[in-house]
Amino acid sequence: MKGLVLSGGKGTRLRPITYTSAKQLVPVANKPVLFRAIEAIRDAGIDEIGIVIGDTGPEVRAAVGDGKRWGVRIEYIPQDAPLGLAHAVKISRDFLGDERFVMFLGDNCIQGGISQLIEEFGHSQHNAQIVLKQVANPQQYGVAELDEHGRILRLTEKPRQPRSDLALVGIYLFDPSIWQAVEAIKPSWRGELEITDAIQWLVEHGKQVYPYVHEGWWIDTGKKDDMLEANRLILEEMPASNEGYVDRDSHLIGKVIVEKGAEIINSTIRGPAIIGENTRIVNAYVGPFTSVYHHCTIEGSEIEHSIVLEHSAIRDLPHRLEDSLIGRYVEVNRSPFKPRAYRLVLGDHSTVGVL
Ligand code: DAU
Repeated sequence: MKGLVLSGGKGTRLRPITYTSAKQLVPVANKPVLFRAIEAIRDAGIDEIGIVIGDTGPEVRAAVGDGKRWGVRIEYIPQDAPLGLAHAVKISRDFLGDERFVMFLGDNCIQGGISQLIEEFGHSQHNAQIVLKQVANPQQYGVAELDEHGRILRLTEKPRQPRSDLALVGIYLFDPSIWQAVEAIKPSWRGELEITDAIQWLVEHGKQVYPYVHEGWWIDTGKKDDMLEANRLILEEMPASNEGYVDRDSHLIGKVIVEKGAEIINSTIRGPAIIGENTRIVNAYVGPFTSVYHHCTIEGSEIEHSIVLEHSAIRDLPHRLEDSLIGRYVEVNRSPFKPRAYRLVLGDHSTVGVL
């Protein structure tokens, strides 16, 4: 079996972070979501993975490389424009050949990996397998309607009035019948070739599509709050460890991960939290569900339930920072100048909540 990871697309919902970088490379618990997808596929025993890339292709290639680090072979499949998930499958035909394959959306995070799914599909006669999860807001996803025997009746992409609360998780397993389906469908109202329509085509043409209902958590990390939620869930599952330096005046409470070269000076860290490589926490408080990536500084400030990307500095804030996603090379300081005022340089689509 081969793996196909989708890492193209636009990422408009994570602006301004995604003006300058791929949404799939935003780290959750200090590891890019895309790396988690690659690891889930590798852990299921698949070592040939194709990654569909778009405008952010060079950045994705630079971050992921040839896959040796995970013991897999990675091939890049450039997509000229984000014309839909089924379009991404279509252009991957040469890479996939006539093998069965798993397709994993590069912004999805799932609890427990996909080994069991792959194993079940590998031993089955099913033409396709989809993963479903009960959600509170089905209109934001592809939605599946099942009959009383648990068989698929209908799949609809982002319906205004969903007829069930079962969302399509961004992990799909296919056999070669998908090739006929992606050729047969037409673009949707949003101008995309929808994978949901391709699977609906399989159902209508008598193919066996098995719906697997996932019990653990699943997050589509497209938006800030989803990112923070994924961060919270993953941090809760990680064991504490300390490879950095913690001075005698500091307190680590609960599950705290201190990565290599990190320094904690006269500070309190209440886990679950992770402090990245070569990051300095000085006279500060880092609260639960916070991930600070590498080469950052948090000094004289308090932060909680937040994600800070690499090379950023937060200094001397008079109030606690919460529920925040801070980009790369960001500086958040207290302004020493008079008159007392907020002085901001913000990118397009930034959001700031002041006191
Ligand atoms: O996350 C699950 C949902 O993913 C499903 O419930 C929906 O049925 C499915 O259509 C999809 O919806 P999204 O609107 O969330 O898809 P998005 O545009 O965010 O794209 C998902 C991933 O695929 C993302 O990593 C970008 C990548 N992508 C997307 C498109 C449209 C590509 O590589 N190429 C593309 O053409």
